[in-house]
This record gives sequence, C-alpha cells and structure tokens, in this order.
Amino acid sequence: MFAKKSSKYLKKDSLIQPTYGSRIMRGEIPKYQIASEGLPPSVAYNIIHDELALDGNSRLNLATFVTTWMEPEARQLMMDTFDKNMIDKDEYPQTAEIEMRCVNILSRLWNSPEGEEAVGCSTIGSSEAAMLAGMALKRNWKKRREAAGRPVDKLNFVMGRNVQVCWEKFCNYWEVEPRFVMAEGDSFSLRPEDAVKLCDENTIGVLAIMGSTFDGSYEPVKQLDDALNHLAAESGLDIPIHVDAASGGFIAPFLQPDLEWDFRVPRVKSINVSGHKYGLVYPGVGWAIWRDKKELPEELIFHCYYLGGDLPNFALNFSRPGNQVIAQYYNFLRLGREGYTAIQETCRDIALFLSANIEEMGPFELISRGDTIPVFAWKLKDEIAASTNYTLFDLAERLRYNGWLVPAYRMPENRKDIIVQRVVVKEGFSHDMAGALLGDIKKHIQWFSKHPGFTKTIDAKQFSH
Ligand SMILES: Cc1ncc(COP(=O)(O)O)c(C=O)c1O
Repeated sequence: MFAKKSSKYLKKDSLIQPTYGSRIMRGEIPKYQIASEGLPPSVAYNIIHDELALDGNSRLNLATFVTTWMEPEARQLMMDTFDKNMIDKDEYPQTAEIEMRCVNILSRLWNSPEGEEAVGCSTIGSSEAAMLAGMALKRNWKKRREAAGRPVDKLNFVMGRNVQVCWEKFCNYWEVEPRFVMAEGDSFSLRPEDAVKLCDENTIGVLAIMGSTFDGSYEPVKQLDDALNHLAAESGLDIPIHVDAASGGFIAPFLQPDLEWDFRVPRVKSINVSGHKYGLVYPGVGWAIWRDKKELPEELIFHCYYLGGDLPNFALNFSRPGNQVIAQYYNFLRLGREGYTAIQETCRDIALFLSANIEEMGPFELISRGDTIPVFAWKLKDEIAASTNYTLFDLAERLRYNGWLVPAYRMPENRKDIIVQRVVVKEGFSHDMAGALLGDIKKHIQWFSKHPGFTKTIDAKQFSH
C-alpha cells in the first residue's frame, strides 16, 4: 500500500530529471502526478525499462517460489492472449473450456476417486484459492451447526505456526479464530497429535501444508487423517482437512507419486496450488479444487447474467487475465507427465547437490535437504553462531553483491531464535549456477574470517516470503 506524497515532495525529488541518457529526452517528467503531455512510445518504454533494470535479476532470485523462466512459445502464447478476460466466459468459451480442462487434469493428478465429481476454478494465486477454500469450510461448518440447532458465533481453524501469511489473512478477514500448533524443539510444522488436541465442535477444518514456506517440508496428511478418524470415533467430531499444496501440488504427483496426501485421503476435502510456482507459469495463476461438488456450497457460487450468458463464478475478483490459465494448459500439453517429472527431478537433484555441498562447508547445519520440494534451508551450527562474527543476515547481504537473492529469516514463533537461509531451486537454475553460488558463499565466509573487526547484525529482521 502506498500513501500520497506530501506536496513538499513534489519538488526536485519528484521529477525524472533531464539528462536522462537519451538524445530525445530532455524535459522533466513528474513522478507522482500525471504530466500535462504524453511521451512518444519509445521514450516511455525506455524510461520504464531502464528504471526496472535497478530491480534484482529474477534468474538469481533464489528467494521466490514463483516462475522466472518460460520458453519462448509460452511467452508468445501469453502475449497473443493478453486481451482475454477470464471472466468473459461467454465471449471466450474456448478459454473457459481450457480452464475446465485444467481443473480436470489437476483433480486427476491429485487422484480424485471415480464416483466423486471434483469441481474447481482458477484463481490469481494460492492466496485467493486459500480464501475460497476457507470460505467453503466455514459455510459447510455453519450449515452443519445450524441443522443441528447449535450456535454458530464462535469458530476456529487449526494449523501449524509455519503457515504462509494467506491463512492468517483468511482468519483475520473472515473472523475465524486461528489455533496454532506451535514449533517445538526441531519440529517446525504441524504435529497431528497436537492438532487434534486443539480441535473442538467449533473447528471448521485443519490445514496441512505440502511444502512449508519455511523449509520445504511436507506435513503428514495421512497421519493427520488417522488422528482425526480417531478423534471422530472418540468424540463424534467430524473435521475436514484442507491441503495447502501451493508448491507441493505440482511436485508430489511427479516425485513422490506413492505418497498419500491428496484425494486418496478421505478427509481431504479441498486442495490449493499455485500454478505460478512449480506449475511453471509466470505469475499469477492458482487453483482451488474440491473433491466433490457437495463440498462447495452452491450458495457461494454467483450466477451472474452478464453480456448474455450465465457465468457461474466463485472468486474474490471479477476481471482477471486469461492468459495465465492458457499458459498453464500449454505446460500440461507441452510437458505431459514425463516433462514435468524431468524438470522437477532436475530441480531436486540440483537442490540435493547444493544442500550437500553447503553442509560440507563446515559452519552450517541443514534444516532440510530439498528431497520434498526442491527447497532447503540451513542455519549456522550452534557453536559457530555463538563464536563467529557474522549471522546469516550478513551472509545474505554479502551474497547480494554478486546478485544472489538468498533470504535469511527467523523460524516460526517459539523458535524465532533460529535464523535460517533458504534456497528455492526452480527451472532455469542450472548446475553451473549452483556451482557459482557455492563459490560465492565460500568466498564470503572467508571474508568474514579475514575481517575479525566485522560485527554481526543482531537485529530481528522479519520473515519475508
Ligand atoms: C505454503 C504456501 N501457501 C500459500 C502461499 C501463497 O501463494 P501465492 O503467492 O500463490 O498467493 C505460499 C507462497 O509462498 C506458500 O508457500
């Protein structure tokens, strides 16, 4: 969110100055108010293009989970379809058909059982999908409670403290009490036995994450299902699971096909994924899928009669680009199971290679290796952290000198004393680049030891996604 600049700002600092490095660009242009006259397209293009060169290099951005490379044909197809509004299903029936095919492909990839009719939709990302899935859980709970003549004024949602911020947003915006399984010792995510202890008649659902943002780990969905079955047998509470598979939804089907985390697990009622993470599409596309249409309350779907057609719509927004959905379908066609498997395996191999080499360097201890999703995190060994003159915040800072964006952050509440650094390996990050990163990490560690006068950053920099 950005605030309006005060008018004293509208002086020198607010102007793009003359002497911009171009022959045809000599005048000043206001930054924070609209200019009285426009510019030739090439000049406007160059000004913005060159200013954006000051951003980080997305290919060296090992912080983001989001796709930073697509092949030229995919880019072309996206450019060809920039003008398609996803909501105009009546005008662009083929785009709508493609969205529906993607929903079918995903529900089958996640082992939707024969005899159940999975339903779903595209979204702008996992966060929107999380809101939709959370709303469905909330409404289903409310209907069950009303039918039983029970109060509906207090409700809660159970999850690990390692959730991505979208779930805290969901609880805040929809006034649901978040109940957290806290980090304990070396356990940074949801433990089914502790999750069950937090459940009561007001619990709308329990969340399990496939690919924790903190360290890439998978939460034990099957064991959670078992624990909830046990609770149901003991107490009669029948509590559904939602799986946040923002990253893992496009990894587990290819790298761990036998792991039961999806619709094979009976209590899993809905799953979200980010198409723009390991679905390999540029931002922003996500997906929400329900195992059966009875899990998605009909009254949440708006039937909007617009431009001559019935548009059944379950979304937080209305207009949205259609080209990311088209790009998702391109990837399904282009790659197939074989292609996705090959790419994800390569990313995992590079993650394993990198994590093993980082472990071997000496000062570091791995929190995870990259054998779930190709994401891993490490910390300084306790004895090194106590005696050395740098923290991982300092290492992250120095790696920026080489263009690498490798974030350092604190683990979830209760274990915020642990500072970790994380790498997300994505398509486009090669073995060669991994070798260069290792070389730079070694170089900076040596720099710290050669500069004993350097003092470590103690501050509590906040976790950033
Ligand atoms: C586990 C998890 N859930 C949800 C999200 C939010 O996803 P999006 O950026 O697609 O909204 C993320 C993003 O990193 C994530 O890692």
